[in-house]
Amino acid sequence: MNLTQSLVTGVLFSLCLPAWADRATDEPITPISPAQVSNPELVELGKQLYFDPRLSRSGFISCNSCHNLSMGGTDNLPTSIGDHWQQGPINSPTVLNASMNLAQFWDGRAADLKAQAGGPIENPKEMASNHTLAVEVLRSIPEYRASFKARFGNEAITIDQVTTAIAAFEETLVTPNARFDQWLKGDDDALTEQEQSGYALFKEIGCTACHYGPAIGGKSFQKMGLIEAYQTNNPAQGRAGVTGKDADRFMFKVPTLRNIALTYPYFHDGAYWNLSEAVDVMARLQLGRQLNDDENARIVAFLKTLTGQQPDFKLPILPPSTPETPRPEPFPEN
Ligand code: HEC
Ligand code: HEC
Repeated sequence: MNLTQSLVTGVLFSLCLPAWADRATDEPITPISPAQVSNPELVELGKQLYFDPRLSRSGFISCNSCHNLSMGGTDNLPTSIGDHWQQGPINSPTVLNASMNLAQFWDGRAADLKAQAGGPIENPKEMASNHTLAVEVLRSIPEYRASFKARFGNEAITIDQVTTAIAAFEETLVTPNARFDQWLKGDDDALTEQEQSGYALFKEIGCTACHYGPAIGGKSFQKMGLIEAYQTNNPAQGRAGVTGKDADRFMFKVPTLRNIALTYPYFHDGAYWNLSEAVDVMARLQLGRQLNDDENARIVAFLKTLTGQQPDFKLPILPPSTPETPRPEPFPEN
């Protein structure tokens, strides 16, 4: 379509629709679409694996332990608890809408969900298994062998198949229809005046320079502490850990602000429990701006409208272990 054609189409299109229907296209934030599931059986297998603690050495930790889908896809802890109650190094980001991220992890070291999913299984500080053992566990369970055969055409079960299935499930973990999305789509009553003015302020002072797109983040790496340095004891260096470049120190993937009311505590070190404090930190450190109480409250009110419909599914029932299944090791050997 050339420019004239698209202008004509645009005009015709807007003539056929009520004026408000255009709002979504003018805004830096776009609504989230419901998940399109093309392969429900693969998603179902991925869901089982996501909830299966036998992918951990202890037999106790599943993906859902640290990305709890009853709690906004996080663990609501400053940093996660891993194998043998080890203190994790960094805050667990939400898996909700993670498919929209330009890359995975705070420092973006995994390209996509599939590349990410193999990591925690063999991370000694997380699930502390290894890919050989995890696959051995699954192979020992006839129902899993049958599911993998039905999905992938063979009973071999590889870690590649495991991560493909988990990623397919994670693709469905989107949260459409937040009140803010209803407003974007034209329902003027979906937001109060305070919430609308909070959004206006969010744009006006420049939060949208980094928090934009459907996930309101996840699209770029940005420096934490752009105007004023962030004080933390957490040793994470951000993107510099991946690129080795000094210029990338404290560059973190901009987190999504979808479901932000559920995903406390905030920042990569999980140091702030209170959304109002997190907003204050952002305004000062990223924009050099001290918000007054009213401005802060307006932005917080807006952010709370970003809680969307949480994934709604049946809890998977996992097939039982067999005598061949390697036994879990919940406790350190004495
Ligand atoms: C022990 C807690 C723990 C377990 C178990 C765990 N994760 Fe995570 N997950 C984390 C932490 C912490 C991070 C952030 C690590 C980082 O950025 O360096 C993370 C990051 C992620 C991300 C990236 C999100 C983003 O916005 O960058 C995804 C996706 C994810 N995990 C999915 C999974 C899946 C799938 C499993 C199961 C195979 C799993 N996690 C198991 C704690 C955990
Ligand atoms: C220059 C880019 C930039 C700007 C501007 C910016 N942010 Fe952020 N925001 C980030 C980055 C990067 C992080 C992650 C920092 C970290 O965890 O160390 C973040 C994190 C957050 C978090 C915590 C999210 C979580 O899950 O931990 C909130 C809330 C937030 N920003 C709100 C805002 C608000 C409100 C504004 C405007 C006042 C704003 N941000 C402006 C880049 C930015």
